[in-house]
Amino acid sequence: MPGVIDPQVHFRDPGASNKEDLGTGSRAAVRGGVTSFLDMPNTRPTTTTHSALEAKLQRASRICVANYGFFIGATPDNLDVLNTAAPVCGIKIFMGASTGDLLVDKEQDLDRIFSSGSRLIAVHAEDEERIQERMTHFLGQQNSRYPPSLHSEIRDPKCALIATERALNLSQRYGRRLHILHLSTAEEVTRLRQGKPSQVTAEALPNHLFLTTDDYDEQGSRVQMNPPIRRPGNEKALWAGLKEGVLDIIATDHAPHTLEEKSSPYPASPSGMPGVEISLPLMLTAMSVGRCTLQEILKWMCQGPAEVYGIPNKGIIGEGYDADLTLVDIDNITEVRDENVWSRAGWSPFSGRSLTGWPQITIVGGQIVYDHGTLREGVTGSALSFNQTR
Ligand code: DOR
Repeated sequence: MPGVIDPQVHFRDPGASNKEDLGTGSRAAVRGGVTSFLDMPNTRPTTTTHSALEAKLQRASRICVANYGFFIGATPDNLDVLNTAAPVCGIKIFMGASTGDLLVDKEQDLDRIFSSGSRLIAVHAEDEERIQERMTHFLGQQNSRYPPSLHSEIRDPKCALIATERALNLSQRYGRRLHILHLSTAEEVTRLRQGKPSQVTAEALPNHLFLTTDDYDEQGSRVQMNPPIRRPGNEKALWAGLKEGVLDIIATDHAPHTLEEKSSPYPASPSGMPGVEISLPLMLTAMSVGRCTLQEILKWMCQGPAEVYGIPNKGIIGEGYDADLTLVDIDNITEVRDENVWSRAGWSPFSGRSLTGWPQITIVGGQIVYDHGTLREGVTGSALSFNQTR
């Protein structure tokens, strides 16, 4: 099949290479059949300036074994950079705070960004005001122990719906290209089903398709993320959204934190889970039990991301297209285990699950880079280009 494009990862480079860097992240990617990735700007320093973007591109060209693209991160006052930095796959706006300190939540700042320029805007849609209110309400008691499951109560479905609605309104007001990242609730699917403008696309994560709040019992803060995992039932709505085309693509939001960090008591435990190397096996496993077809996987994970971000010559196998390919054995059954994870994070929220369908060979730009469990030396990825005419 064509190589998977993972359109949302956090490879922590620069700033936290003890958890991941562009080298280790891209190696984990090819292990999972992912040949291109789009990396988020909440690094340290943040990717919010021309020089920070340039430094990432330079470093990626030296150490990435998969093809790479980067988001430029929005702040309340870097509008000029947002519209001139290149190449970028889009502008990332954290409408609610998550890992790192990027945040744009004031109406006049959001309005200014949506109204100037034409680049794709990708939003982390959670309402900061409601998050803050609920943190104060739920975490108000000094010296209390809080269960990680409280995370899904604090950042409740309404936090997501309010912000998604707000982004849709801004996109409609200015006709601005909008991509809603990691949509997680049944309420948002219903909202989009009622009316999804042609300039809007949306994404789901395996985390929200295959985990629910029931998983806190065994995994605790390992499954803490933003937006949080949801009550059982929401995953069915996300699957339905994907099937209907209300949701367009699948990303992982690969967010490596160490288990040591995760073992801090909630709310000091960080949000996010590694996932870049497991998404294709998870989806192939879903296929093996009839939840989706191979054609749908190709649409959601290969062709779709190329179309959403306007990446030329990627996403399908065809004459004139780049030879980014993965050969999968759809009968291979292998259990996910923390010790076998390639990401420097060294664990997976899917450990213990036997998945059916694993990449055996991954080819980037015509060269074999991953071959039956080993990495071949000497292959490097290329910078992606973006042609956004939508
Ligand atoms: O859970 C999350 N972790 N959500 C995000 O939006 C950011 C990510 C991270 O970078 O750790």
